[in-house]
Amino acid sequence: MLMLMAVAPAMSEAEADFLRRFPAWKSTAVLDQLRATDFARLDETHQVYLDYTGGNLYALRQVTQHQRDLTQHIYGNPHSENPSSQASTNQVEATRTAILDFFRAPHDEYEVIFTPNATGALRIVGESYPFTPGSRLLLSTCNHNSVLGIGEFARADKAEVDYIPLRREDLRLDETALAAQLAQARPGVRNLLAYPAQSNFSGVRHPLELIDQAHAAGWDVLLDAAAFVPSNRLDLSRWKPDFVSISFYKMFGYPTGVGCLLVRKESLARMHRPWFSGGTVELSSVVARTHVMRRDIAGFEDGTIDYLSIPAVTFGLQLMDEVGVETIHTRVACLTGWLLETLPTLRHANGAPLVRVHGPKDANLRGGTVPFSLLDPDGKVIDVSAAAALASKAGISLRMGGCFCNPGAGESAFGLQAADIRGVLERCANDGSKSARDELFERFGIQVLRASFGWCSNFNDAQSLVTFLRGFVDRTADQVGRAPGADKARESS
Ligand SMILES: Cc1ncc(COP(=O)(O)O)c(C=O)c1O
Repeated sequence: MLMLMAVAPAMSEAEADFLRRFPAWKSTAVLDQLRATDFARLDETHQVYLDYTGGNLYALRQVTQHQRDLTQHIYGNPHSENPSSQASTNQVEATRTAILDFFRAPHDEYEVIFTPNATGALRIVGESYPFTPGSRLLLSTCNHNSVLGIGEFARADKAEVDYIPLRREDLRLDETALAAQLAQARPGVRNLLAYPAQSNFSGVRHPLELIDQAHAAGWDVLLDAAAFVPSNRLDLSRWKPDFVSISFYKMFGYPTGVGCLLVRKESLARMHRPWFSGGTVELSSVVARTHVMRRDIAGFEDGTIDYLSIPAVTFGLQLMDEVGVETIHTRVACLTGWLLETLPTLRHANGAPLVRVHGPKDANLRGGTVPFSLLDPDGKVIDVSAAAALASKAGISLRMGGCFCNPGAGESAFGLQAADIRGVLERCANDGSKSARDELFERFGIQVLRASFGWCSNFNDAQSLVTFLRGFVDRTADQVGRAPGADKARESS
């Protein structure tokens, strides 16, 4: 009988070299199996996905498990006692427990508040934190806009807002400035430090040790874990931030529209919502012009929560547990290490570098997010929209922009000063032909592409990116040109 046997493709020399240099890769084989069974659509459609920091990809089984659950049960609006309502409540509560367990959070210490995304979690902290005149908000310059925006709530409450600077060379926190700022917590009022466990711009992992340090110096701590938890273990039995913000689509792709705020119970007790809504009040009276808020976490979940999507979070958590967060971490670290070692080898014929990596140049204490600019043989920056359009044509999903919603990291990378930004804003106020963002990016050559790895990335993805980038060798910025309609591209995440 004739047997058709699948023949493993011959390993390329580059892959063999990669395996020699990154022997830990072998321990992540379970993710190759997962890619074959649950992410086959990537290779079937010839896509190279490198935007995991923008949004992760979901495994096939997460969707089929959820579909099965939805098609076998009757789920109604949770705010009632009837069986369909109870079924939803049970699922939502089981999901809260699964989240606490996944992050090893002691149940008597932490609560889970469901939000639409990490931004929703950050907004709750901003609007409910007990800022008072004289209290301080200390923000990392490396924060995402959704964290920086908390400064507006703090200023409205007459709190002082300050920023920890970054070192330009590696975009890590300036430790001297940090120590001086931590020493300035105000006694008698609440002080809040907010920083990302991992930067969505540079991939830098900011130390979790800072949580203990800040607590000892009199600060509450908001840890933005949105970019950290997709490939790192956050162990809340060891680390005790007061608040943690998370988007689940960034962890495992599905569902979108669900995030959470993990909050310490004692910190939650100090929070005050500035309004009430359906679901958050115990009693509200029009005639008496008053209301009584619910005291538990329900006081922080506005209206009807996404009770059909929330239970899908458990399927993602289960799968991450099954393959192991540490395994995902190792895989991402190997690919990032290889990319960071390979990019500097891409050179024009005159020896000039093709790629300038922003942030740390090696894989030490950083995650799988690599921002870079492309340079031509004369060192002129290649237009990012044109490069991204070519990448899209090649089926490669990269993110393009200037700062990816992390303006402080972008400004630090390009050495921008306040006067530079003010100058641009003034010019644009007088001449409305260009948006302030486009004017800024053009004037200062802020053209960044961001590649990021995730749980189902493989060597072929990383190599495809490098092969694509080689296509820019010896091409001038003018030859590459500019993509039509580039100015309209919106930047985020
Ligand atoms: C570090 C970080 N924080 C917060 C956010 C905001 O997440 P979301 O847009 O899901 O609310 C992002 C999104 O990219 C992020 O990377």
